Amino acid sequence: MQKLDLLYEGKAKKVYKTDDSDLCIFEYKDDATAFNGEKKGSFEGKGIINNKMANLIFTLLEKDGVKTHLVKEIDDRQTLVKKVKIIPLEVIVRNVAAGSFSKRYGVKEGEKLNISTLEFSYKNDALGDPLINSYHAIALGIASEKDIEKIKEIAFKVNESLNKIFSQIGIKLIDFKIEVGFDSEGNIILSDEISPDTCRLWDAETNKKLDKDRFRFDLGEFGDVYHEVYNRLKEKYANL
Ligand code: TMP
Ligand code: ASP
Repeated sequence: MQKLDLLYEGKAKKVYKTDDSDLCIFEYKDDATAFNGEKKGSFEGKGIINNKMANLIFTLLEKDGVKTHLVKEIDDRQTLVKKVKIIPLEVIVRNVAAGSFSKRYGVKEGEKLNISTLEFSYKNDALGDPLINSYHAIALGIASEKDIEKIKEIAFKVNESLNKIFSQIGIKLIDFKIEVGFDSEGNIILSDEISPDTCRLWDAETNKKLDKDRFRFDLGEFGDVYHEVYNRLKEKYANL
């Protein structure tokens, strides 16, 4: 497999073309950003740990029947993935109130929600990724009604699987964000990454935050908690 030109550089990873038009290479960087890129930071080895964590999580999701873009880990920082046409929606599922949900509705962080909820943000940096509803997404031609139904089905299935995965390692899944896209056959599959960058993860006993909120809100131990989550995942699932 030959790595070709840079296709896209995101905040936390670079995406390269390959000599197979159906495949891309993700290369994870050590960078972290928050608040639409306004806050910048990093820790040594973040790209390595997120690459490995995302691949382990995607492998577990595949075993649970979720179709993902994962093809194969190439090395510490690089992974071969199916090329997908990303649907420009951040798909957010919440089990417990936190973050922008708590702020928007004046709900105390940590309050369990009556049902797991789903919302979309329109992936558009210039607009600051505004909240968007499904009618607006359809009206703007971002997705069809059928696509929206499929996205919701994938998102709640991922929620169910991730809840199982994390609860077995003493972690509560508060909320998370996924991105999906169309593969070469026109199927909507899970893409991008799932890691402590894209989830809120709290220790089940102490409620200690084990995710990117430590960076967003300068809580310290940013790198340490990523290692903590990875070690717990590895210990439980690495040899499956
Ligand atoms: P929020 O509460 O800030 O809206 O975030 C909800 C979830 O989505 C949380 O797990 C963090 C994740 N997220 C991302 O992965 N990327 C983003 O750009 C934002 C704003 C949130
Ligand atoms: N990833 C987003 C950014 O860099 C925001 C976040 O995760 O808080 O802006």
